[in-house]
Amino acid sequence: MYQKSLIILKPDALQRRLVGRIIQRFENAGLKIHAMKFAKMSTEKSRQHYAEHIDRPFYKSLENYVTSNPIIVFILGGNYAIDKIRLMIGNTMPAKALPGTIRGDFAHQQRTDIPSDETQQPLMNLIHASASPDEAKNEINIWFAPNEINDYSVVDDAFHGS
Ligand code: CMP
Repeated sequence: MYQKSLIILKPDALQRRLVGRIIQRFENAGLKIHAMKFAKMSTEKSRQHYAEHIDRPFYKSLENYVTSNPIIVFILGGNYAIDKIRLMIGNTMPAKALPGTIRGDFAHQQRTDIPSDETQQPLMNLIHASASPDEAKNEINIWFAPNEINDYSVVDDAFHGS
């Protein structure tokens, strides 16, 4: 089943020059880029994108983190892409992310507690990816207009489905 997922490379991914290495992993896995933009997340977009977290104690630190510096937002497609990408990025908590996952290999932050206010260090985990088909649909709508999303063929479509 072909699915599209919304991915965000958060400010720490750009500040640590990890963009190329992260995107390379997705290409290697046979995922297709359907849209991509370089942006700075506004507080309004953060509130839209993370609407389900607004009442959580860590929200303010999350907002400060994701709006602090530019991000790269993109759509990846592939067979069962949503679950596959979540497996590739690893556990939300970098300290719990398995070796071989993006967070397990590159995000070294050790804390596993929940910051109680905005003055605390945010949980810097490099990357976001949609958790479910409904979330992917909603997040894609938040970040891209239909005419910004492209379907096209790649050399190995016959193996991965399009
Ligand atoms: P992400 O995959 O973008 O989805 C929600 C984000 O909220 C998550 O990555 C983290 O950046 C942040 N987050 C989730 N849980 C916690 C937590 N317990 N403490 C701090 N930040 C969190």
